[in-house]
Amino acid sequence: MDLLAGLREIVGDTHVVTDPDAVAPYAQDWTRRWHGKPLAVVRPATVAQVSAVVRACAAAGVPLVPQGGNTGLVGAGVPQDGEVVLSLARLDSIGPLDPLGKTLMAGAGVTLAQVQRTAREAGLDVGLDFSARDTATVGGIAATNAGGERVMRHGVARFRIRGLEAVLADGSVVRRMSTVAKDNTGYDLVQLLIGSEGTLGVITAVQVDLIHPRKIIGTALVAVSTVDDALTVLRAVQHDFPGLEAAEFFHHDGLQLVLKHERRARPFDRPHPLYLLFDLSDGDGRPDAGEELTELLGGLDCVRDLVVVSTSAERRRLWELRELQTDAVSAEGVPVKLDVALPLNQLSTFERRLAGVVRPVARHAMPILFGHIAEGNVHVNLLNALDEDAEGAVMEAVLDLVASLGGSISAEHGIGLANARWLTLTRSSADLAAMRAIKQALDPEGILSPGRMLPDAAPALKRP
Ligand code: MLT
Ligand code: ZN
Repeated sequence: MDLLAGLREIVGDTHVVTDPDAVAPYAQDWTRRWHGKPLAVVRPATVAQVSAVVRACAAAGVPLVPQGGNTGLVGAGVPQDGEVVLSLARLDSIGPLDPLGKTLMAGAGVTLAQVQRTAREAGLDVGLDFSARDTATVGGIAATNAGGERVMRHGVARFRIRGLEAVLADGSVVRRMSTVAKDNTGYDLVQLLIGSEGTLGVITAVQVDLIHPRKIIGTALVAVSTVDDALTVLRAVQHDFPGLEAAEFFHHDGLQLVLKHERRARPFDRPHPLYLLFDLSDGDGRPDAGEELTELLGGLDCVRDLVVVSTSAERRRLWELRELQTDAVSAEGVPVKLDVALPLNQLSTFERRLAGVVRPVARHAMPILFGHIAEGNVHVNLLNALDEDAEGAVMEAVLDLVASLGGSISAEHGIGLANARWLTLTRSSADLAAMRAIKQALDPEGILSPGRMLPDAAPALKRP
């Protein structure tokens, strides 16, 4: 029996999609940089169906790539030619929520926004947030160990996930959802699968660890001249306000793109080189925190301009200036998109040297930098550089600089196809050998997401 017929038998005719128009949204990523021609998109509705689909693909020797909301940015969830896209979108059941143990079960296809809503209705929260919340799914968040805007307070996704269910390459189902907070029994398969980007298993459900919510009582937009000034402000705010919930940054050029493409109002009368955005929570138990923050920032010589707001509409308006940077960059063109992290004491050196390493390989590149300053996480978007990057010269120039400064070549977006070539910059050969041994043990035929993450693990495609 041919593979497509077998897949139709497992999930039903309508959920094996081969029509090119219907396949298109699954076949290309959000940035339009990563795309392929899949054999089919398969949309199972249960973990049993996922298992049967994996077995069928393995038997036919056809690789598959799991896909959640398709908001990834490194080509990890986008098919290469001939692969099967395994969409987890229909695994969308949510609950139960355990208010005492503070956990919430969610199918892999549940969006972050749905998880947030369910948690908040119960007086709890998730401790994870980022701009793709309405589309990104918890399965994808777990698979990529996503980060976002709350990391400085609540950690990356792996700190927010207690349990997982996943289908391995042989179709077996591992399920580790713990009802207790302490559980030291054996290898931690949950943490191994988190961040494995679909290369070790297909995540089908997630047990989210919930937090007691903090109320955001003040949001500040602060204009400064340089990265060093930004770090001075960050240090002062962190010192005086341990309840700081978020610290983000963006530059003048990125703001200009948001004003141009997203038609938002400019925040200050005059332009500034660099902006910081802070969210302050009620965690410090200081009712006048907003005024105290205004006073602190107003007293710093390096602050050029400042606005502190408290209503949710005003907060939204400031946050859009930061969150819409991704959309605004994309409206301008397809960028070479990197996501790096620098030790904070190297951040200004990185920004200073960036143009010098990019210009020789991409003369017309226009860098748009923004990100999560508390973690030194810089999203480097290089517009007008795609042609020059055909052989990876632009990526290599930037990632070499990052590695030489002791940073990470992927802070929160993952490795996927985009960064696999450069994993050796920051991971040793012993590290890579251990990773390959794990991959070999769990997926000996290389059926799951071949070529992603590990540089040379891509098997020859067997096409039907
Ligand atoms: C963000 O922080 O806005 C996201 O990581 C998306 C991006 O980098 O474009
Ligand atoms: Zn980010």
